[in-house]
Amino acid sequence: MAMLIPDELIEEIRINNDIVDVISEYVKLERKGQYMFGLCPFHKEKTPSFSVTPSRQMFRCFGCDKGGNVFHFIMNMENLDFIEAVRLLADRARIQLPEGESEEEKKVTFIKQEIMKINVETARFFHNQLNSTKGEKARNYLKERKIAENTIRKFGMGYSTEEWDSLYKFLLSKGFNEEAIKESGLIIPNKSGGYFDRFRGRVIFPIFDLRGNVIGFGGRIMTAAKTNSSGYQDPKYMNSPETLVYNKGKTLYALNYAKNSGEKSLIIVEGYMDVISLHQSGIINAVASLGTALTESQGRVLKKYAEEIIICYDADLAGQAATMRGLDLLSDIGCNVKVLSIPDGKDPDEFIKKNGQAAFGNLLSGALSLIEYKIKVLKSEIDLTTTEGKIKFLNKTADVLTKVDNRLEREMNIKKLAKDYDISEEAIYTEVMKRTKPKNIIKKNVIDIQNYKTNKGIINLNGNEESKLIHLERMLLVFLCMDNSVYRFIKEKINLDYFHEENRQIASIVLDKLDNNKGIVAAELLNVIGTEAANEYARIIQDECNFEDNKKAVLDILKKIELSKLEKRQKEILEMLSSKNVVIEGVVEKLKAELKMILQKKKGL
Ligand code: UTP
Ligand code: MN
Repeated sequence: MAMLIPDELIEEIRINNDIVDVISEYVKLERKGQYMFGLCPFHKEKTPSFSVTPSRQMFRCFGCDKGGNVFHFIMNMENLDFIEAVRLLADRARIQLPEGESEEEKKVTFIKQEIMKINVETARFFHNQLNSTKGEKARNYLKERKIAENTIRKFGMGYSTEEWDSLYKFLLSKGFNEEAIKESGLIIPNKSGGYFDRFRGRVIFPIFDLRGNVIGFGGRIMTAAKTNSSGYQDPKYMNSPETLVYNKGKTLYALNYAKNSGEKSLIIVEGYMDVISLHQSGIINAVASLGTALTESQGRVLKKYAEEIIICYDADLAGQAATMRGLDLLSDIGCNVKVLSIPDGKDPDEFIKKNGQAAFGNLLSGALSLIEYKIKVLKSEIDLTTTEGKIKFLNKTADVLTKVDNRLEREMNIKKLAKDYDISEEAIYTEVMKRTKPKNIIKKNVIDIQNYKTNKGIINLNGNEESKLIHLERMLLVFLCMDNSVYRFIKEKINLDYFHEENRQIASIVLDKLDNNKGIVAAELLNVIGTEAANEYARIIQDECNFEDNKKAVLDILKKIELSKLEKRQKEILEMLSSKNVVIEGVVEKLKAELKMILQKKKGL
């Protein structure tokens, strides 16, 4: 399947997608010497073990062992197969794929572009209507809600009139075709085969992506509640449906502004008006998840832009439940999370309008850590005046504390808790220790890295001869890619048959390139392998192939491969000789002769 695209083109796509740039769209990276480090997006961690090597265009996590080139990163990250990852990165680098794009795909690309244009025109249309005589009621509404002129402009707010199809007609007049308009989600089919506008009689909030493109809309009715002609109550807010350009689970409202706030934290609130009020009052690091439950994708985006996420949801029951879920979700993907509770059941919008920026700042500095918040909730749920209640509280608290992996943080929390709730430190500590399993997982990777650094030689796999052989051959292939010049020293000694069949496909690519003086780099070698194998290759490349003398190292590997092959054969012979099946005349003698030769060869190595 992958081979529909010529390998040169795949390599061009790889080269044009700098791995640091691509990964930086998902992970915050910091340079440390020749590596960049960040928190691994593939497993939960608090200290970075995810590394990117710009010079090699490879990534590798010492924690979860994932690794590879830019294609594998995207495959893992976006859950795509190889060809989809190639497409995505080709798109990103604006490289045209040869007729690989089917008619169907071309059409999708076209409609996507049309929707983007439709959205821009629509945002303008709604904004102009807000400023026209028709928009008076909406302008008054916004005034009542204390939204300033420049805020309206900054957020591109607008108004959709009560008319049934004014936007639809407007878009047709602009030359957009019906199908594209339908795909934009801005119109809804009626019973008679026509269409009417989705947003009618609402204040409009365009939804922007990170680059400030309009990808969807939200609209609010201007009354507390409204019953429509069919007797149903209109929802207070209405949003665009998911479209080819609008993915709710990945979008965070106002992040296009908040990402430039320069703050180390991002505040996540529930709604449009909360964000808008906060920004208007100078709190410009606020974003909204727009009423839906926070998703993991949103969490990853937040993690990328902030060191700390502060959840500031409504104080109602739904908000509290959403806070708990958000806390767990964010901390599971390794975010530093806090909770800000607004007093008196208000939402951030109401609070900041009533009390101002400084008061909100005070709330912020008192935001609770994950543990503090969870314990506070436990306290509110459990009756602490009874002995039973106290025991239950102690147990549940210990459950929460057990999840803290930082010892110091845990101890500090135990101290504080003991003081706040008048429980003995020992009692809490004992309960926590009961729950803490001894860590028998040795930090294997850390030890390995140290071994590699000493460069004593090639590591020994614990596996059998065969897997050892496969591994050694992979090292050889990697070496040849990392330093093409060593090929001439060993050219005579190897050919395709030399390799285990497991490695033959990759070997044929490498040898072909080298034989034809085309040159190949390690990251390119990875173009042809899947994510599983990429993990192993990345480990080899990053950890096992850092030798000063490449020629010597390659000759050394050859020797080990030779030895490994001899060992393997020796084992086979010994097994055959010990079994009683060897009855054929002369065979035993032959095997014995071969064994003798093997032993001699081994000595000579
Ligand atoms: P809220 O009802 O808390 O909104 O819903 P809010 O921002 O405080 O609204 P105001 O202050 O009354 O104007 C929070 C978010 O949930 C989504 C919207 O994104 C809203 O901003 N929501 C709410 C809907 O999508 N539909 C609804 O009917 C209600
Ligand atoms: Mn509100």
